[in-house]
Amino acid sequence: MEKEKKRCTAIVLAAGRGSRMGSKVHKQYLDLLGKPVIYYSLHTFQESGIIDDIILVAGKGQTEYVRKEIVERYGFTKVSHITEGGKERYESVWEGLKVIRDRKDSDIAGYVFIHDSARPFVDENILKRGFAGVKEHHACVIAMPSKDTVKLADEKDFAASTPDRNKVWIVQTPQIFEISLIIEAYSKLMGEQCIQVTDDAMVVEQEMNLPVKLIEGTYENIKITTPEDLDLAEVFVKRVFGKMFPKS
Ligand code: CTP
Ligand code: MG
Repeated sequence: MEKEKKRCTAIVLAAGRGSRMGSKVHKQYLDLLGKPVIYYSLHTFQESGIIDDIILVAGKGQTEYVRKEIVERYGFTKVSHITEGGKERYESVWEGLKVIRDRKDSDIAGYVFIHDSARPFVDENILKRGFAGVKEHHACVIAMPSKDTVKLADEKDFAASTPDRNKVWIVQTPQIFEISLIIEAYSKLMGEQCIQVTDDAMVVEQEMNLPVKLIEGTYENIKITTPEDLDLAEVFVKRVFGKMFPKS
């Protein structure tokens, strides 16, 4: 008989400023075929049989906007907390982790799914693979094999080396961890000078010296970063969510 399922919390990051998008409205709130970008991943977590609750990390001064215009407007009842993020992504992650650490019904036996709100196309199959992965490996990240050859450059932008393409993966989110493990890793990190922390797996690799398993996502699970990503995202919304939201 299967043991009781451990609690799974999603941390959805929405405290970025979207500087590479260059839009007035932060990219996670831009309109994508009638709904804000952030809507789509929240919808998937809300409907998921794996995710129990959601912590939303919003920008400074934006928590009330997010509560009214996103959480209440679309009925995301699994959102249990809305908290303010920090200047860098890792600081926003830490704000979300502190909510888990300090919440009254604290249950550090569970798992956390850390997700970028700028990735609308996480789906239930990705969550299932990630959940299986974290149960087996303690720490895993969703990623895809690189389609392109990758070059490492030197300081003058000359190609310095070419990693074997079969070993190059492009990292996505969610990144999924045992809660106790990721809280310990981030606690260590926050006591140090942090430079160039771009994902959560790095923190576990560096601070805990633990291997992080790569689990297949999809090529649709893109991060909306620059304006052309929005055009691509429209195509994917029609394909992935089209059946769910027929044109009214
Ligand atoms: N993020 C965050 N807090 C930050 C920085 C980023 O919560 N201080 C979130 C963003 O909202 C986004 C995700 O982390 O959903 C991935 O980051 P990225 O794509 O870099 O978004 P931005 O930092 O907003 O964009 P840019 O780097 O172009 O400014
Ligand atoms: Mg950024």
